[in-house]
Amino acid sequence: MVYKAPRGTSDILGTEVCLWNKIFQTSREIFKLFGFTEIITPIFEDSRLFIRSLGDTSEIVTKQMLNIQTKEKSLTLRPEGTASIIRAYLEHHLDKGRGFTKLFYIGPMFRGERPQKGRLRQFNHIGAEAIGSYSPALDAEMLVLITRLLEGFGISGYEINLNSVGCQKDKEKLKGILKKELENKKSGLCEDCRSRLKKNVLRILDCKNEACRDLVQNLDFQLQFRCSSCSSHFEQVKEHLSRQDIKFKELPYLVRGLDYYTGTVFEINHAGLGSQDALGAGGRYDNLVKELGGPDLGAVGFALGVERLIIALESQARDTHPVKQDTIDVFVVVTKDEFLSEGLLTLAKLRNNKICADIDYTNRSLKAQMRRANNENAHIVAILGEDEVKADKVSLKDMQTGKQETYPSEQLIDKVKELLK
Ligand code: HAM
Repeated sequence: MVYKAPRGTSDILGTEVCLWNKIFQTSREIFKLFGFTEIITPIFEDSRLFIRSLGDTSEIVTKQMLNIQTKEKSLTLRPEGTASIIRAYLEHHLDKGRGFTKLFYIGPMFRGERPQKGRLRQFNHIGAEAIGSYSPALDAEMLVLITRLLEGFGISGYEINLNSVGCQKDKEKLKGILKKELENKKSGLCEDCRSRLKKNVLRILDCKNEACRDLVQNLDFQLQFRCSSCSSHFEQVKEHLSRQDIKFKELPYLVRGLDYYTGTVFEINHAGLGSQDALGAGGRYDNLVKELGGPDLGAVGFALGVERLIIALESQARDTHPVKQDTIDVFVVVTKDEFLSEGLLTLAKLRNNKICADIDYTNRSLKAQMRRANNENAHIVAILGEDEVKADKVSLKDMQTGKQETYPSEQLIDKVKELLK
């Protein structure tokens, strides 16, 4: 039996791990700049939390929930972060004393999707939620934050698509208009959209099927479905963005698959991604806090898909953002087995001085140990041979210049530090 990673999951290996860590580190720095604090929530939650938040007709709830059935209740591996963050926000009264809270999170999400490039069953989100304000300036701020993050990762050539689905009343109005308009045209819709007509009519707007697209683009649904307050909010969001020089495209067909969205919605697309072209998405969800048992609070957030960020980076000229494999400072080499304990003491001395160091534990020849040092990208090799051990010395070979010199053992740390400069 040869075991393989489950379908729709992936192992992150070698230099890719460095790239991931760079993305996480950059994210944490930029979130800090914008005043967000990190939150870590469980990987699974009560299934009802997601059904209530995302909506029982949403694609995630109807098709993609990965459930864990326990004796007492049904749990679900989290398909997204927003519901969990609001649950935690309410459970721990995170608003206390602040009134307005900005949180960010990084971690894996799970959806039982049919896997393809950029669409996994386990994938990772870098997300942010700002809770406690209805201000259109905050919607714009989230998009400014996204552009800073993408810049920080070195991603260019993306597009921000923007729309407003209006408040709950407006959404109902829009659903009514669409149902009426599409009912007698339903033979032209794809099979999925025919069933969406009954259960999830808004999703017909962003169906990728060409026939559905044509039908939708000829509809006059823009007929002022938004109330004056939502229209004015949306205008202000756009104004804030323009003043901050954030380029965006208004996309009247953009709706999001999750029920909690109201008002501003957005999607960040990148041509390098292929058919799964969203790097990230988000929007306002002004009713969710209340829906989950809290006060009436406006909120807005987004999530970026890490695997898709990596695909986008790889689709750009790779050498503009080279990622170096982790290297070690010193590789300790002993010419005879009996010097191993001497080698271990040298190793400990280096590590106690915060110098990354390693040794070979497989009793190999000097040549094989040197090869290993090379493969590990060691900057320096510390050699302990017969002469060195007898005279309480150590030889240091600079792997870049090839120069080798012998020093008294007590000078080890100073000399290594000099060579590493
Ligand atoms: P979402 O659009 O479902 O939004 O996911 C955000 C991003 O996660 C997508 O744009 C995509 O980059 C990535 N993603 C989604 N599904 C997969 C998958 N199966 N494989 C790989 N990547 C994927 C949300 O989850 C919302 N919670 C965002 C949000 C936060 N809205 C408000 N606050």
